[in-house]
Amino acid sequence: MVEKIRKVVFPVAGLGSRFLPATKSVPKEMLPVVDRPLIDYAVEEARKAGVEHFVFVTGRGKGAIEDYFDHAFELETTLSERNKEAALKALSTTQLSHGSASFVRQQKPLGLGHAIWCARDIIGDEPFAVILPDELVLHEQGCLAQMVDAWHSHGGNVVAVAEVPDDQVGQYGIVAPGKDDGRIVEVKGLVEKPAVKDAPSRLALTGRYILSPSVFDELKKGAIGAGGEIQLTDAMASTIGSVPFHAVRFDGARFDCGDKAGYLAANIAYALQRDDIGPKLVDLIPQLKDFVLKEC
Ligand code: G1P
Repeated sequence: MVEKIRKVVFPVAGLGSRFLPATKSVPKEMLPVVDRPLIDYAVEEARKAGVEHFVFVTGRGKGAIEDYFDHAFELETTLSERNKEAALKALSTTQLSHGSASFVRQQKPLGLGHAIWCARDIIGDEPFAVILPDELVLHEQGCLAQMVDAWHSHGGNVVAVAEVPDDQVGQYGIVAPGKDDGRIVEVKGLVEKPAVKDAPSRLALTGRYILSPSVFDELKKGAIGAGGEIQLTDAMASTIGSVPFHAVRFDGARFDCGDKAGYLAANIAYALQRDDIGPKLVDLIPQLKDFVLKEC
């Protein structure tokens, strides 16, 4: 019996079409929030939750992610020779210990469920986490660590949720809630990207999952769901009743960086938190009002 969540899967094969042309030659997971790429925050959050092995499900054109977490011999040697200590220190989060990262390719964009299924042999028969790097949660402990706490109490599947407004319901997996103590919600059902009128609640899946390996039995069936894709939401829904299933209303500020406004808001929020940039930004923000488009 595994008492720990040791492994995390990062699905990073997506095309990033919402951020073209920037993502034509740069993976969307490498877009920076202040001065660190999105994927770096995801790895940090997993580390804070005690995860030891990082599985990246990549695709064509995603080599920069692999390079980012590799030893950069020339860069590090040059910085070291020039006594650039601060710059060297900035690289410290990019070091994954030997053998603790695996990269597997999703050859075709068949959906999030399919991406997770591509990691099945690396995960094996143990519970694991999934983090979607374009969802950022600003919180000291991290969102996944809060979910691990819930998993220790309830076991089974645990997902992160947040309330979304009606006009966003169709962008998310939505939970049909059962017993709800205000923080932990029993999951009775799940629907991927429903129309508002069909949505069982406004509680949306926000890109963090702890999953029993039984989800792979469902994913291997390859059932096609919303958008013609193999959906993780559908596979999880099929396990309801056979494993405990709970959602966590987590603490922390959430930013959907798959959306341009959300991404820009994340940049501002993360910068404001930093001693080295925050005060300068506070001074600059009032000037930005001059750029607000005026009605003609
Ligand atoms: C995916 C999931 C969806 C979830 C969302 C969170 O959708 O399929 O259930 O709510 O991530 O960001 P995507 O944004 O990849 O369309």
